[in-house]
Amino acid sequence: MNAIMWAIGLFSTLIGCLPEGGNENVKSATTEHKAVTLAPVDTVQTSKLLPPVVVAEYDLVALELAGAFADIAQRNVQVENDPLYKSGRRRFRGYALNEVLDRLEDFSSFSTRHHSLVWVCADGYRTTYEFHSINGNGGVLATGLTDTEGHAWHSYKQGKRTNKQRPWPYQLTKLQIVSTERIAMRLSTPDPEAHGEGERLYKKHCMSCHSMNLIGGIMGPEMNVPRNILEYRSESDFIAFAANPQAFRARSAMIKMRYLGEDKLKKITGYVKSMSARKVCVTAMGCAEYADGLE
Ligand code: HEC
Repeated sequence: MNAIMWAIGLFSTLIGCLPEGGNENVKSATTEHKAVTLAPVDTVQTSKLLPPVVVAEYDLVALELAGAFADIAQRNVQVENDPLYKSGRRRFRGYALNEVLDRLEDFSSFSTRHHSLVWVCADGYRTTYEFHSINGNGGVLATGLTDTEGHAWHSYKQGKRTNKQRPWPYQLTKLQIVSTERIAMRLSTPDPEAHGEGERLYKKHCMSCHSMNLIGGIMGPEMNVPRNILEYRSESDFIAFAANPQAFRARSAMIKMRYLGEDKLKKITGYVKSMSARKVCVTAMGCAEYADGLE
């Protein structure tokens, strides 16, 4: 009954192709001409400054191909008002989720309080579940439709191409376990007394589109790494832009935040600025190593 559905499709063009990091020329180009350089920050420091949030990763497709789930009986499940195919009732078949999880090495060592589950699709789209959402044992990891001939997935459109190959629903490929403490660490201001309120406001109003230390949405630009936005924008422009982006850029995709008022926007600005003292990475190369950061 309670099928867990994997959303994806719509977002496939948004994520997909993060550029490869590792441009070795940056280093040599910067050391000699300090005044006019291509890389503005310390180029020596490429190491990870905060621990990665992903503590374990299971490649479900590889495990299935290797036969790890071969002894699990397939179940049938019916979903009323299927949210993704949008064609009303659909019938799926798949594995009981708890049986799949039982077969993942060390899965039981992750605690419900300190970790979350991130389902990763082939194009990079991710969706996060809390442990308690899967604890009812009712989830089914669907592997196909049973209401079409051939028991196959409907092919879905990816750009102009049609992809019929993916073995998992909506291209689900991996399960990651992320540490909720480490995520909190990446978002928390070093000065909670002064900027705790700004942090709360930022999470509520900005984070769905803007990442902070690579945690958060990707529709708008990252705010902190490698350079904190307030290292290259003035506070007054930051606030004015947030209040009315279209006054700066015609056709800006950002919504007006004027309704928050100057006081709240100032608090958000204070929080964002404070995060320059807590960066997860400080070079383009260092940040490219965190392909795991999107939430
Ligand atoms: C609905 C998504 C969305 C939300 C929510 C959002 N932004 Fe944006 N933001 C964008 C996009 C997209 C851009 C890219 C620039 C553009 O389209 O003009 C942007 C750009 C910006 C810029 C300019 C960056 C630069 O250096 O050019 C600032 C500043 C900014 N946003 C601040 C904020 C703040 C502060 C909040 C929360 C109060 C916020 N944004 C909430 C989508 C969003």
